[in-house]
This record gives sequence, C-alpha cells and structure tokens, in this order.
Amino acid sequence: MKPFNHAVTNFKESIFSTMTKLAITHEAINLSQGFPDFEGPKWIIDLAKNAMDQGHLNGNVGKNQYAPSFGILPLREAIANNYKRFYGVEFNPLNEIVVTNGATEAIFCTCMALLNPGDEVVVFEPFYDSYLASLQMVGAVIKPVTLIAPDFSFDKNELFSAIGPKTKMLILNNPHNPTGKIFSLAEIKLIAELARKFDFLILSDEVYEFLTFDESHIPTASFEDLAVRTITISSTGKTFGLTGWKIGWAAGPADIIKAIHNVHQFTTFCVAHPLQVAMAEALNKMDEYLVDFKKQYRNKRDLLVTGLKAAGFNVLNPAGTYFAMAILKEGENDIEFCQKLILEKKVAVIPTSAFYMKSNAGSSMIRFCFAKTDETLKAALKNLN
Ligand SMILES: Cc1ncc(COP(=O)(O)O)c(C=O)c1O
Repeated sequence: MKPFNHAVTNFKESIFSTMTKLAITHEAINLSQGFPDFEGPKWIIDLAKNAMDQGHLNGNVGKNQYAPSFGILPLREAIANNYKRFYGVEFNPLNEIVVTNGATEAIFCTCMALLNPGDEVVVFEPFYDSYLASLQMVGAVIKPVTLIAPDFSFDKNELFSAIGPKTKMLILNNPHNPTGKIFSLAEIKLIAELARKFDFLILSDEVYEFLTFDESHIPTASFEDLAVRTITISSTGKTFGLTGWKIGWAAGPADIIKAIHNVHQFTTFCVAHPLQVAMAEALNKMDEYLVDFKKQYRNKRDLLVTGLKAAGFNVLNPAGTYFAMAILKEGENDIEFCQKLILEKKVAVIPTSAFYMKSNAGSSMIRFCFAKTDETLKAALKNLN
C-alpha cells in the first residue's frame, strides 16, 4: 500500500485519551481531561430539546435539518452582542463570525485557510495539543517559545529570536491551558508591537474567557490596532459546561472569516442546528448564570489548591482556566509520576511533557483539572494525602 499522509501518520493518541482510558481501567478519580463531571445547566439543555421538538414549525427550515454554513444568524448576533457588551469589541454578525464545531474546528480551519507550507508560526509552550496537529497538517514551521514556571512569563529575547520576516502567525491562548496564566498587558503590548513590525496574524484562543478569578478577561482584538490582524476563537463548551455540544466560532475581519468559512464549508459544512438555537438564547441570557459560574469555579480552585498544598504538592495558583499545575520534586518524572499516582493513589492527572516541543520543563510538572464536583475533588484529595 502506498504511504498515508505523512503528517497524520505520525500523530500519537492524545494524552487526554490515554489518561482517561488509564483512569477507567484502574478505577481512578479522573482529574485529567478538561471537562466537568457534572451536568451543564438544565435550562440550556431544555432549550435544545424544545428546538428539536419544533421541527418544521411554521414552514421554516427545520431545526433538525442543516443549519446555514456560517451558523444561524441569531447565534452570530448573540456572539456579536456579547463581544460588544462585555468587551466593547465590534464584530459584524453578517460577515465577521463563523460558527464551527467547537474551537478545535475553528483552529484547524484558521490554520488551513491562512497558512501555506513553510510559513512560520510562533506558539507558546506548553500548548494545547491541537495547535501542533493543525500546524503540522498544513506544513507550517513551528517556532516554540517557552513559558517559564512559576509565573509562566516568557523570555523576551527568546520571543525576538522566534520572530522574523517569515513569521505569518502567532498563537496566543489567553487564559492559558495548561498553566492557568493570564498574559499581562505588557506582554500583549509587546506581542502587538512585534505583530505590527513583522506584519503577522494572531490566532487568539480565548475558550477560557469567562474562567478568570481575580481580573476580567481582555480579548486580544480589543487592543489598539490588533483587531485587523486577530482571529478571535472561542466556544461555549467551557463556559456552559457542555463540552460535548462543540459550539465554537472564529471572529475577525471579513476577508479572513470568508477564507476560514471556505475551509469550514468543505470539512463539516455546518454545526448541529438545534444546539445553535439553544446557545443563541443561552448567550443572550448569560449574565446571571456567569455570577454563580465564576463563584463556583473560584471555590473549586481554592478547594483543590489548598488541599494539594496540604498534601505536600508544590502547586501553582492559577489566575484563570480550570487547571492547576504542580511542580514535581527534583528527579521525579511526569509520566512515571502520573502512572504511579493512578496505580497507588487512584487519581489520574496529566503529565505535561506532551505539551512541549522544545523545553524539557514539562517532564517535571503535572496538571490537575478542577472542573469536577466538590465530592470528586475531596475524594481525590483524600487519596492524595
Ligand atoms: C486552549 C483550548 N482551546 C480549545 C479547546 C477546545 O475547545 P472545543 O471543545 O470548543 O473544541 C480546548 C479544550 O480543552 C482548550 O483547552
């Protein structure tokens, strides 16, 4: 048989699938993969059920049939309204937003639409693993810049040397998975300066935009001048605890969104119609929900971080996301440590070396997910003590 696509053949199983399988086999408490172990809001689930029941009501396009490829207009309007209300950022719902199957599809379509083989892309490591896969599929050259513990700041000189005339894009994930870091204004201003100077695009992955504990999220597109070169990607999975719905989007200048949509229409064409109907309403009514959501996750963060400290872990307090990193003791290795934790303590977490391609810092860190019920977190902490 002739060889398959080279980039794809080399992909390994995602570390999240590996750890979740191990957790199931050994009946360990799963603090690895980033999804809640509790139900999303019932009122939103009911909205989707109603949309399904509506079928072809009033002769309109059935809610159980294909949705428009860009996403249903009420959802794009709700997304645009929220960017304006929360952040003062303007997107035209008619041509500056495309709804995708989660942020993951938006990331893939953005890379496919905007990059040519050989284009250089700067990525901060540790990184969310789909960036690498998408970049490898388009044949981009990845230029990693390492975020350094404990505050996960980057060395300016390392960034300067990663950027050059061939830089086409920089991927910024803010708030950042897995570190829980929120990039400082000074850091974003520096990136903005370089983006202008070297004329590159910014893919800004903001799926944890509502999971900030001590400060409000600032979208990259809200920085002076950056809107024209930023593709803002987000999704409702983390915000509403409905990661299985995969409702995401890319927002940005119309010509860029048109190119991203060109890819989207020939990969998935559209996103589950009734779920879009439900999300459009949910986004319009989310203010009250957000108050409890933030409080709930702040409490979970505090419960986990305090408990891990008491259990002797060198855990770092995250400013955002629902992850916390812990630094291992000298000589310990992340993969061996995680395997031991599953077997001996019945707790599954993520070894972070999988999130690095340049530095070996990941082999001395592990990631805990606290999107879990308080009972799950307490049971895990009991095992770890
Ligand atoms: C940084 C980051 N971006 C994107 C995603 C994927 O989002 P979605 O489930 O909407 O595809 C995740 C999920 O864990 C993530 O952590």
